[in-house]
Amino acid sequence: MDIPVLTIDGPSGAGKGTVSRLIAQKLGWHYLDSGAIYRALALELTEKDVLHESIAEIVDVALGMDLVFSSENRSVLLNGQDITDLLGLESTGNNASKIAAIPEIRAALLQKQHDFKQAPGLVADGRDMGTVVFPEAKHKVFLTASASERAERRYKQLKEKGIDANLLKITADIQERDQRDSERQISPLVPAADAIYIDSSTMSIQAVVAEVLSLVR
Ligand code: C5P
Repeated sequence: MDIPVLTIDGPSGAGKGTVSRLIAQKLGWHYLDSGAIYRALALELTEKDVLHESIAEIVDVALGMDLVFSSENRSVLLNGQDITDLLGLESTGNNASKIAAIPEIRAALLQKQHDFKQAPGLVADGRDMGTVVFPEAKHKVFLTASASERAERRYKQLKEKGIDANLLKITADIQERDQRDSERQISPLVPAADAIYIDSSTMSIQAVVAEVLSLVR
């Protein structure tokens, strides 16, 4: 039987994570947070201090990562160590975006992502889910929002967590990351030709979830 896949691609802060998780829950499907894989690798490379080593060594680290995602409490274990809090740091996202531009690294991480495609279905969240990783997916969404709205949301999230945040700096980081993700040679952030485009700038999470669910059902 063909395993159904719903891909949700888009820039950081568009609400992909929240929307994808809710939809996976409602459908009873698996959930792939592909950004977390790039983030975990960025952490591992920093920890092992191999960020400036040869590509071959970096690829070895990528292939050797033992990553476990717990769907119950949203924790992530890397080689047995809980890295959930570290994954969410802005610096981790920025480092992930830098290593994600290297073709050999993207290729090395493909299998880990394909492994998530299991019955009864998969919601895959990222930048190139519908274009490169699961081009065969039946349902594809490109979820975006204006850069200022995305920065505002991120700012609120950090404040709620009690983390000191600066809106101007967050806006600049988001714009820099968007540009790097969109202009890179390999797997740039572009909507798949067959993706439904949703701008969530003025939509609630519930409204986005309802719209995406109506596509799948
Ligand atoms: O989505 P998230 O912010 O966790 O992703 C962190 C970074 O990882 C992104 O800025 C992007 O450069 C990279 N990434 C990617 N391809 C994906 C998911 C994430 O290049 N499928």
